[in-house]
Amino acid sequence: MASHTKYFIGNWKMFGIPSSFKIIDKINNYFKKDRKNNKKYKIIIAPPLTLLQDFIFKSKNKKVLISAQNCYEEDKFGAHTGFVSPFMIKKIGVKFIIIGHSENRQKGETDKVLKKKILLALKNNFTVIFCIGENKSEKRKKRTVKVLKKQISNVLHKNYNLNKIIIAYEPIWSIGTGKIPSSNELIKTIANLKNFLTNKYKSSPKILYGGSVDKDSIREFKSIKELDGFLIGGASKSSKNFIDIIRNFYK
Ligand code: PGA
Repeated sequence: MASHTKYFIGNWKMFGIPSSFKIIDKINNYFKKDRKNNKKYKIIIAPPLTLLQDFIFKSKNKKVLISAQNCYEEDKFGAHTGFVSPFMIKKIGVKFIIIGHSENRQKGETDKVLKKKILLALKNNFTVIFCIGENKSEKRKKRTVKVLKKQISNVLHKNYNLNKIIIAYEPIWSIGTGKIPSSNELIKTIANLKNFLTNKYKSSPKILYGGSVDKDSIREFKSIKELDGFLIGGASKSSKNFIDIIRNFYK
C-alpha cells in the first residue's frame, strides 16, 4: 500500500537569482517547527537551471528537495547548444525532474519527445513529475479525460516503475489564471485517471493537482483525499505564500 505522503512542489519557471536561496531556509524553518504535520508531506522546489547546483548545495541537511524543470531528450554529452542532458542534471545531485509541462508542450514538445525524456530520466534514476492537462476548448467539448488518457498512454510504458513517476494534472486553462475546477469535477477526473491507470498499469502513481493553487484555493482542494499533493507555480516563489499553502492545507 502506497504511503499517503503529500507533495508540495514549487515550480519556479523562469524566476530566481542566486540570493533567492533564502526561501529554502525559510521554508525549512517552518517545516522544522511544524512537528504536528511534517511527517505527512514533502516539499520540493524546482528552480531554473542556473540555480540548480547551488540549491542542491544550499538544501543539504534540509527538508527541501530540489527538482529540475526539464531536460534535453538525449543523454550524456553531445552537440546540442544551450541544452543539458538528464545525465548532467543527475551528476549535480538532482533527484526529481518535471517533464511535459504545458508551457513546454506549447513550445513544441510532442508526445514522442516526452517519451524519450521520460525514458532517459528513469534510466538516470530520477523521479519524474509528469504533467498532463486539457486546454479550454477540450474541456468545453467534454474531452478532458480522453485527452489525459491519451497523454499518458502515448508516453508511459507498461513496464515503468510507477513509484518513480508522479503525475501532475494541470488543466491548461487553470494555470496562472485564478480559475480552478470545481471539487466535483476534479474528484471525477482524478477517479477516472486512477481507474484507467490501475487497469492499464496495474497500479496508479501519485497524482497531484496544479493550476492556480494558492493559500485560498488550497482550502477547496484539501478535502479531496484522492489528491497526493500540488504543483504550485506563481505562489511558490515567495516563502510566505508557499508556507501559507501548507499551513492552510493542514488547518
Ligand atoms: P500556477 O502554475 O500555480 O501559477 O497556476 C502552475 C504550473 O504551471 O505548474
